[in-house]
Amino acid sequence: MDMISDAAPMIERDLAVLWHPGSQMRDYRSFPPLEVVAAEGPRLFLADGRSILDAISSWWCKSLGHRHPHIVDAIRDQLDAFEHVILANTTNVPVVRLCERVLAAANGRPAADWGADAPPGVKPGHFNKVFLADNGSTAVEVALKMALQAQAQRGQPQRQSFIALQNAYHGETTGALSVTDCPLYSTPYRSMMFDVAFLTDLPYRTGPDDPRWLDCSDEWPAIEAQLNPLADTAAAVIYEPVLQGAGGLLLYSPDLLTRLHQWARAHDIYLIADEIAAGMGRLGHILAGHMADGRWQMADGKKTVKDDSIHPPSAISHRPSSLPDFACLSKGLTGGTLPLSCVLTTDAVYDLFDADYHDRRAFLHSNTYTGNALAVAAANAALDVYASEDILGLVQQRAADLTRRLADLAPGRPYIRNVRGCGFVAALDLRQPDGSRLPNRDRTGYRVYREAVARGALLRSLGDSLYLMPPLNTPDEDLDAMAAILADSLDAVLETGTA
Ligand SMILES: Cc1ncc(COP(=O)(O)O)c(C=O)c1O
Repeated sequence: MDMISDAAPMIERDLAVLWHPGSQMRDYRSFPPLEVVAAEGPRLFLADGRSILDAISSWWCKSLGHRHPHIVDAIRDQLDAFEHVILANTTNVPVVRLCERVLAAANGRPAADWGADAPPGVKPGHFNKVFLADNGSTAVEVALKMALQAQAQRGQPQRQSFIALQNAYHGETTGALSVTDCPLYSTPYRSMMFDVAFLTDLPYRTGPDDPRWLDCSDEWPAIEAQLNPLADTAAAVIYEPVLQGAGGLLLYSPDLLTRLHQWARAHDIYLIADEIAAGMGRLGHILAGHMADGRWQMADGKKTVKDDSIHPPSAISHRPSSLPDFACLSKGLTGGTLPLSCVLTTDAVYDLFDADYHDRRAFLHSNTYTGNALAVAAANAALDVYASEDILGLVQQRAADLTRRLADLAPGRPYIRNVRGCGFVAALDLRQPDGSRLPNRDRTGYRVYREAVARGALLRSLGDSLYLMPPLNTPDEDLDAMAAILADSLDAVLETGTA
C-alpha cells in the first residue's frame, strides 16, 4: 500500500485504515461514508457543509437526539470527578443511584420514583438486582449465562438449551448470535455457535390498530406444540418483546408474551427479554414487556382494549406474571451517548448465586469497562430527561402519527407493502406487484438509502425494508421532512407504479 498523505481526500485515508461495521467495504468506493463534523438533536452536520436528518437514531440508540445538553453537562461534571474505576471491589453513589432508578422505572413505578428527584433507596417491585455491562450483545451473553447457571444451581442441570423466536436478533457475540435467526449475519460462524430451537408461525401484526393486535389465540396452539417437547430441557426462552428489529422490523402481538410467560412459568423455564431495541421508550414504555400487561393505549391514544381506563406508563402497576426473569437494556439507556448495558433480574435468581465463596456459585462474568462512570453519569442524566420531558407520554401521543406518515406514502406506490408501526418505529417493505420479494441483486433498499442521503436523511435500509426510528423527541417538522425525503427517494428509485 502506498503512503497516504494527510492532504489526501478523507475517503482515501478512511479506506486505507478503517474497516467499518456492518458493511461491505467495497460499497464505500462508490458511495463514501459521510464525514460527520458535528451533531445536534436529530441532525448530523457534514464536512461538506450539508446537514442530514438521523432518521434511524444512529443504530436506534439516540433516543434523546444528539448532544442533549443535560446529558452533555452530566458527562462533563463526572469527568471532573473520575472517569473510570474498576467496579469489582469499589462502589460510588452515581452507580448505585442508577441501579435504584432503573429498577424503579423497569418495575413500572411512577416517574417520581425514578426521575431526577427520586428519593434514594429501593422501591418494591419485580426486578431487584442490576448487573452492568457495556454493550447490548454482552448483556445478552450475561443473561444467557445467568439463566444457565441459575438452572443448574436450582437443581436443574439438565436444562441446558435455549428457545428463541424466528427472525430474532440478539447481537454479534457468539452466544447472542446463536440465539439470533438471521443467517445473513451468522452463517460463516456456524461452527462457533450452539443449537437453538426457533419458534415459527409467530403472530405478526401491523401495530396497535390491527384488530388482532392483542389476540394471538389463532397462532398459539401451533406455537405451544413447538414448545411442549422442549419443556424438560430448556433453560430459558429469549425474545425481543413485540418489536423484532434487525430480523426485519417486525411486530408481533403482545398477547404472545402473556402466553409465553404462562407456559414458561408452568415449566420452570426462565424468560429473557431483550429490550435493547424495544425498551427505553421506543415503544412508549421503559420496558416493551409492559405492553403484555394488557393495559395500554391504542394508537389513537384513547382506547384501551383489556381495560376501560387509560393507564399512562407511569401508572402501570407491577404484575410479576407478565415480567421476565431477566431484562436486557442498552442503546437508549444512556440516551445513546456512551456504551452501557444492563441485565435486570429478580431476588429469586440472585439468591441462587448467594453462597459461601468455596461453594463456587458466584457469577464470575466481568468486563473491564463494566459500570464506566461517564456512561453511568449519562444514564442517570438520560433518566432525568425521560422523566422531566415526559418522553414516554410524548411517544404514546405521537406514535400513530409516525406510522401514518408512512401509510400516507402507500397510495399510488403499489410496491409499498406491509406498512406497520408501534411507538416511535414505523416500517414498510418494498415488493413486486404480486407481493413477492424484489430480486436481491437489485439492492433496491440500498439504492433508496443512497438516494435519501443525497436528499438529506440518513435512512439506512434493512434489506428491502425502509423505516423511521428517529430520536423520541424529534420535532414534527423534522418527521415530516424524513417522510417527504423517503417519498422522493422511493419515486426516484422505483418510478411510481413500475416496480
Ligand atoms: C434487540 C437487540 N439485541 C441486541 C443488540 C446488540 O446490541 P449491541 O449492538 O450494542 O451489541 C441489538 C443491536 O441492534 C438489538 O437490536
